[in-house]
Amino acid sequence: MATKISLIGAGNIGGTVALLSAIKNLGNIVLVDIAKSIAKGKALDISHSLPVLQCNRKIIGTTSLKQIKNSKVIVVTAGVPRKEGMSRDDLVEINLNVIKKVGQGIRKYSPKSFVIVVTNPLDVMTWVLQKITNIPYSHVVGMAGVLDTSRFKFHLADELNLSIEDVSSSVLGGHGDDMVALLRHTTVSGVSLEDMIKMKKISRQKVNEIVQRIRTCGAEIITYMGTSAYYAPAAAVVQMIECYLRDQKKIFPCSAYLKGQYGFKNIYVGVPIVLGANGVEKIIEINLKKEEKEEFLKSVESVQAILNIAKKFI
Ligand code: APR
Repeated sequence: MATKISLIGAGNIGGTVALLSAIKNLGNIVLVDIAKSIAKGKALDISHSLPVLQCNRKIIGTTSLKQIKNSKVIVVTAGVPRKEGMSRDDLVEINLNVIKKVGQGIRKYSPKSFVIVVTNPLDVMTWVLQKITNIPYSHVVGMAGVLDTSRFKFHLADELNLSIEDVSSSVLGGHGDDMVALLRHTTVSGVSLEDMIKMKKISRQKVNEIVQRIRTCGAEIITYMGTSAYYAPAAAVVQMIECYLRDQKKIFPCSAYLKGQYGFKNIYVGVPIVLGANGVEKIIEINLKKEEKEEFLKSVESVQAILNIAKKFI
């Protein structure tokens, strides 16, 4: 059976994921959206690019969740994005109702899928979707860390005027203003960031400024575009889909369910995972220094506070 990728939410991120998945020839695509015929329009538009892209796949657009039946991968972006002045957490009540409906559809029509959640507030929506679908924890993850890391790598490479391919880094924690950049584990062509600072290739202050920028650049983009970012989030999602479908076993920071790792339980939060054909194949526990632990705890506490609110509605 041909690989089926269903994108629930055919807005800015969903539509871009569809196009990038076609460029990478990842599978047949179903775009689902409640908004009348938007998914149909995008599916037709992207279908018209298939001969140019040399991608022999089918792309359909629909308002019906029935069409997601037996999907290998499902990406959930359904919901409302942030507007200027809103935090990701402001979306909790509105998006919770969307996730409940979408989750019931996934449970009914495609309970064996690997599901990537993008809807904000991310870590909490991922938790809710897993509860409603009852899909194994290994097969429900949230996309945030891949995006945050990509943003960090870009700005660091840009500042150093070096190739983005040479920068390796990771982040921890919730997708929010207090995500934790793992500077000790950041390298540039194998040279640690600490050594780069010692060699005066970059100042510590500049690094701190970049970390701060990553925390707020989502809001910065909203002030420019009037809506939240979508090209980079979509690219991050597609990297995760490809890693799963092609069993690449790469290490990605994703929102994953903790069962005691890092000292936390029953919560989804950003941690490094090995992603392969079995979904989350491993959660990697990095030894954290005191300050990193404190930052991580603060981030987890923010997620927990929103989760407590969400639990009252489900
Ligand atoms: N079922 C299907 N689609 C839905 C539903 C639903 N119950 N509710 C809303 N949608 C659709 C909307 O009609 C819209 O087309 O979800 C789509 C969301 O697309 P955009 O508004 O363009 O938002 P986008 O930028 O794609 O972001 C989606 O990801 O990063 C997060 O904060 C962001 O929560 C937001 C989500």
